[in-house]
Amino acid sequence: MKPLRLSVLSILLTASSAFALDYVNDIQTILKQHCWECHSSEKEVKGDLALDNLDDMAKIHIADIGSIRPGDPEKSDLLARLKLSDKDDDFMPRKGKPVPKGDLRKIEQWILEGAVMDATELTEAEKSRMDAVKIKAAQNGADIYFSWSSTDGKTVEAKFLQLQGESVKMITEKGRVFLVPFSLLSPESIELAKKLGSH
Ligand code: HEC
Repeated sequence: MKPLRLSVLSILLTASSAFALDYVNDIQTILKQHCWECHSSEKEVKGDLALDNLDDMAKIHIADIGSIRPGDPEKSDLLARLKLSDKDDDFMPRKGKPVPKGDLRKIEQWILEGAVMDATELTEAEKSRMDAVKIKAAQNGADIYFSWSSTDGKTVEAKFLQLQGESVKMITEKGRVFLVPFSLLSPESIELAKKLGSH
């Protein structure tokens, strides 16, 4: 297939619609049902964990050394505790009923995607966290579509194929192949291409 020129990208403009799971809309509602009496500023804050303190959640608990480790559910102590047998001393919710399996999967998925607070207002750190997760998945062979931007601010969703010298070969969901020179890409997209191509 003959690669299209970047000028065609403008016709294929897509708004990024695939929002990730996030804390304020998806996860907090689950935790409210099971944890609030012991882990909220409204009631009690056991174990220094206030699940309704969004600032603390974002800065302390959701972190590479926190109880929620973005991209790494296996190492996330909060999720691990929910999965224990309810007879285990570390089981959460303490003295409560286990969190339903479907909700556990949701929490796991949220952590896998990068554990962001609010998908409608992503911070720069969260964006790069989500990218890191996606880059890893793409390098492991998953079908991941990245948002690429050009120097003049246009974007397109496409899967990375390979680096060709100073150009990136990519394919859109509709199967269109582009060969985009670095000179037309934003610095972030060039960095993304280099990361993806370094594998
Ligand atoms: C009846 C009270 C109670 C409920 C309900 C409860 N917890 Fe806890 N939790 C505690 C206590 C007490 C501690 C501190 C002792 C400990 O670490 O085991 C704690 C500690 C924790 C910790 C460790 C905090 C840290 O950084 O050391 C996590 C994570 C946690 N709880 C998560 C949860 C989650 C998630 C829920 C809801 C699904 C929940 N807990 C429900 C009482 C509770």
